[in-house]
Amino acid sequence: MDKLDVIDAITNGNYQLETTLGKLHILGSSCKDIQQRYGVREDGLYFIITTNGVVYQTFCDMTTAGGGWTLVASVHENNMYGKCTAGDRWSSQQGNNANNPDGDGTWANLKTFGTPEGATSDDYKNPGYYDIVGEDVSIWHVPNDTPVKKWSCDSILQYHTATKFLTGHGGNLLNLYKRLPVRYNAGRCPSNHGPSIPIVYDKGDAETTKNLYGPNARGQFVPGYITFRVFNYERGAMALCSGTKPVRCHTEHFCIGGGGYFPEGNPRQCGDFPGFDWNGYGTNRDWSASKAVSEAAVLIFYR
Ligand code: G3P
Ligand code: CA
Ligand code: CA
Repeated sequence: MDKLDVIDAITNGNYQLETTLGKLHILGSSCKDIQQRYGVREDGLYFIITTNGVVYQTFCDMTTAGGGWTLVASVHENNMYGKCTAGDRWSSQQGNNANNPDGDGTWANLKTFGTPEGATSDDYKNPGYYDIVGEDVSIWHVPNDTPVKKWSCDSILQYHTATKFLTGHGGNLLNLYKRLPVRYNAGRCPSNHGPSIPIVYDKGDAETTKNLYGPNARGQFVPGYITFRVFNYERGAMALCSGTKPVRCHTEHFCIGGGGYFPEGNPRQCGDFPGFDWNGYGTNRDWSASKAVSEAAVLIFYR
């Protein structure tokens, strides 16, 4: 079955899809592909087909900087008080354990979970994360439990890379993190950090980015970048500093995702939003992040 056959099957062969979803049955290998082939300009949920023929639905941002952005994942913190417990899919759901240095391994494996509509209420990862070959990454920080239609309007920060850096890292984050594992003690700060890519802001700015994190944490980074795979002083690994480039090594207060072990304050830094609550949850004092960023899902797009 080639792509056009699948389009036929969905538009003509499945009455219920046609009835309930109206015009939303066009299909492409990514949101960019859909935009190019059908001239679509409207944000919303679209059907994507993988190279293996798996069809899934996800959100397409068809407007930002020309559009064509495919939502592939969201990192959501369901409970800052749970330290590598249930829901910490982007770090470890198996406790803070030096014998499990990769944690759940989500950044570099083929597991998928969640739903596009639930991407601000729980973690989300679709096959596009590993199947799409993209050039750039876009990130939206969207308050938890925001419905799809209000994501863009209500997001606190939106930005994207424009250097086509993914081309040099295998075209997607799966390949990037295979080469740069998010693993406790796999390297040190700062010599083994992954790339820091400059960003173009689509909503908010460098000042907005700074103020989302604690006053002490602000001295640890410069805003205006996305940085991949970093470590902290104790060699705890984190996947993504979204909006920042670390210049010092207390990275646990502004970088997200992680391996399975964070030595400092064991187990207090283990989780999807590692040390965001170091001086109290949502206080935005000392090292603590603001409530706004602690309660916003990080939506990751490729184009
Ligand atoms: O990351 C901050 C931590 O390493 C030190 O925190 O509590 O001594 O200010 P504290
Ligand atoms: Ca989570
Ligand atoms: Ca620290």
